[in-house]
Amino acid sequence: MKEYKVECIKCGARFSKEDIVYTCRKCGGLLNIKYDYSEIEVDRIVKAKGQGVWKYRVLLPFDEETKPVTINEGNTPLYRCDRLAKSIGIDDLWVKHEGLNPSGSFKDRGMTVGVTKAMELGVRGVACASTGNTSASLSIFAAKAGIPCYALLPKGKVALGKVAQAMMHGAKIFSLRGNFDDALRVVRQLCDEENLYLLNSVNPYRLEGQKTIAFEVAEKLDRGVPDRLIVPVGNAGNISAIFKGFSELKTLGITDSVPKMTGIQAAGAKPIVNAFKEDKAEIIPEDNPETIASAIRIGNPVNAAKALFAIRDSGGVAESVTDEEITEAQLELARQEGIGVEPASAASIAGLKKLVELGEIDRDEKIVCITTGHLLKDPERVIEICEAPKEVDADVDVLRKMLK
Ligand code: F0G
Repeated sequence: MKEYKVECIKCGARFSKEDIVYTCRKCGGLLNIKYDYSEIEVDRIVKAKGQGVWKYRVLLPFDEETKPVTINEGNTPLYRCDRLAKSIGIDDLWVKHEGLNPSGSFKDRGMTVGVTKAMELGVRGVACASTGNTSASLSIFAAKAGIPCYALLPKGKVALGKVAQAMMHGAKIFSLRGNFDDALRVVRQLCDEENLYLLNSVNPYRLEGQKTIAFEVAEKLDRGVPDRLIVPVGNAGNISAIFKGFSELKTLGITDSVPKMTGIQAAGAKPIVNAFKEDKAEIIPEDNPETIASAIRIGNPVNAAKALFAIRDSGGVAESVTDEEITEAQLELARQEGIGVEPASAASIAGLKKLVELGEIDRDEKIVCITTGHLLKDPERVIEICEAPKEVDADVDVLRKMLK
C-alpha cells in the first residue's frame, strides 16, 4: 500500500486517504498531498515507460493495482516557437499546448486522478462548478466511469463548445443565476450534504494529476528546467499544481531548480495580481469579474494561497492583461505558430509580451508558456474577431478577381 498524507498547508492537520475532505476541518486551509520522498525510487520516474499522466504513477496517490479511469490524457506537445519569439524579441520560447488533451483542456489531467479517486471512495456521483472546461472534462470521465455527473454553470457565461461537450457526455447541467464564484459556493455545500464528490481544483487529488505538466516539461527538455513558466490563472489550481510538480522533481534530485512561476490574469478579474503587487498575504475577492476570457472570469480564486506561495517562492510574478492584449496574442499564436487556443489560454502569451516590454523578463530566458484550452472551445469568439468567409458564386473568374 502506498502511504501518503493529506495535509493542511496552514495548520499542518492531517487527514486520511479514506476521508472525503477538501479543506482543513480545523482551520479551513487548503490541503496538499505529501509523499515520503525518501521512499520513492527516482529511476521509476526517469526511466518510466508509457505516456501521459499515469506514466508518473509513482508520484500519484494510488497503489500499483489501482485501475485508472483514463482516456489517454497528457503527453501534450511542447512546441518551440521561433517565429513568435522573434516577434516578441526573445530567444528561447516554448509553448506546451494543453488544448490537445482529449477533451481539449488541461483539466483531463486532474480528472483522470480525481475520478479514479472517486471510484476508490465509492461515492454516488461527481459534481463541479465550472466556467466550462472543468464540466466538459468531468462529464467525459464520469461517462467513462459510469457514474452521474452534475455541473453548475454560470448562466450565459460559458463558451459554446464546452457546454456542448458536457451536454453530449450526459452531465446533468444547471444554468445558475450567478457567476462562477456563486456556483462554487453552492456546489461545495451540495457535495457536503449529498455524498457527491467535488471535483473542482480545491480537491487536492485533482492537482496531483495536473502537476504532471511539470514532469513532461522537464522530461522533454532533458531535465532542463526552463527559467520561467507562464500560465493563465483563474481559480489558481493549475499554477499551484505545476509548481508542486517542479518542486517534487527538485526534492528528488531529478532537477536542480524550479522555474519562476508567472501567473497571468485578465484585467477584469485579477485578485491574485492585486495581492501580489500590494504584497498582501490574502486576496480581496472581486464581486463582478469581467473578461472575454470566460474560462478565467473568476473573482474569488479558491487556490489563491497556494498560487501566491508558488509565485513568491519561485521568484516569479503575477501580471494582468487586457482583453485587447489577449485577442492580439490569440491571433498571433494562431497565425505565426499554428497553435489554436481559446482566449484564456492566450493570456499566457499576452502576459509574456507585456512582461518583456516592461523589462520584467530578460530576453535570453528560456520560457515555457502553457496554453490551457483549444481554439474550438470558443467558436463564438472566433466569429467576433476574425474576418467572415466571403460568399461567392461557383465561378472561377469571379474567384480569380477576388484573389487580386
Ligand atoms: N485556462 C482555461 C482554458 C481554463 O479553463 C481555466 C480554468 C484556466 C485557464 C485557469 O486554471 O483555474 O487552475 O487557475 N477553468 C475552470 C473551469 C475554472 O471551470 O473550467 P485555474
